Amino acid sequence: MRSIALLASGGDAPGMNACIRAVTRTAINHGAEVWGISNGFQGMVDQQTEQLTSRSVAGILQRGGSVLGAGRCLEFIDPAVQARCVDYLRGAGVEGLIVIGGDGSLRGVRALNALGFSVVGVPGSIDNDVPGTDNSIGADTAINTAVEAIDRLRDTASAHHRAMIVEVMGRHSGYIAYMAAIASGAEMVIVPEHPIELQAVFDEMEAMQQHGKRHFIIVLAEGAKWRAAELTQLINDADNPYDARYTVLGYIQRGGSPSALDRTMATRMGVVAVGALLEGKSNVLVAIRDGMVVPTDLSTFSADETKSDPWLQEVFSVTSS
Ligand code: F6P
Repeated sequence: MRSIALLASGGDAPGMNACIRAVTRTAINHGAEVWGISNGFQGMVDQQTEQLTSRSVAGILQRGGSVLGAGRCLEFIDPAVQARCVDYLRGAGVEGLIVIGGDGSLRGVRALNALGFSVVGVPGSIDNDVPGTDNSIGADTAINTAVEAIDRLRDTASAHHRAMIVEVMGRHSGYIAYMAAIASGAEMVIVPEHPIELQAVFDEMEAMQQHGKRHFIIVLAEGAKWRAAELTQLINDADNPYDARYTVLGYIQRGGSPSALDRTMATRMGVVAVGALLEGKSNVLVAIRDGMVVPTDLSTFSADETKSDPWLQEVFSVTSS
């Protein structure tokens, strides 16, 4: 394979640049050209590509975001658009594509593979919602960002004897919420996977008050049944031992310099992704399993499968009180 293209799709994630750097340098070291496609699949539709060199990916390892841009492309859902993109890539002499992105981006990987084009997916999303891999690029950095914020928020909540609802990202996944709650020692975590009744929130607040706790931290996943403002109002409208305030962390979780774990994992994934293409593999998801980065067959699980980590709830429940 003499020419590979690369794009970042969906929400950007800290560590994507480390992967872009690894893909570029690995491919060049194996004698292949590398073409960066801008702004995710939209860049393929708009035919926005630039050749990448070893020097063009210098100094990006430590930077958040994506030097190729990122984004979602509704137009790409159209099979006719997908076919035009394959014709474009083939016309440019590109023989393989690497897509760094989350669960939604992998649908594009599957579609292009179905058209006979060699595509390898690399899981890149702070949500870590890609089935088939233990981790995704960006999740560790986002969790560290959330934990640092929660540690700060606990100080002021404790000073004022308050409940603090901290809303984190994750779309439909509670992974960031659970990991941040475990790491920060929050009193409660509310996620879409395990709905909770409002009375159970009040009961736990009462129990913590009886334990003499001066603060009550709730980590709330954005996909749960309440958003932070709504849950805060519900708590304050009822008779509870803690006045409630809230903070929505939002996009701060997507930015920042990637952690060492994200940098190294993304680098390893980029190397494996190029290796899979050069070995003639296709419809591959580069996955991390039991600490090893391995090329896995995307066809072994359906596009509608959702990722679950049942251990999260158990670990939180036995350590939170
Ligand atoms: O998928 C990553 C993510 O950050 C989700 O956690 C969040 O809900 C979504 O992207 C936000 O999407 P956008 O950047 O398009 O607003």
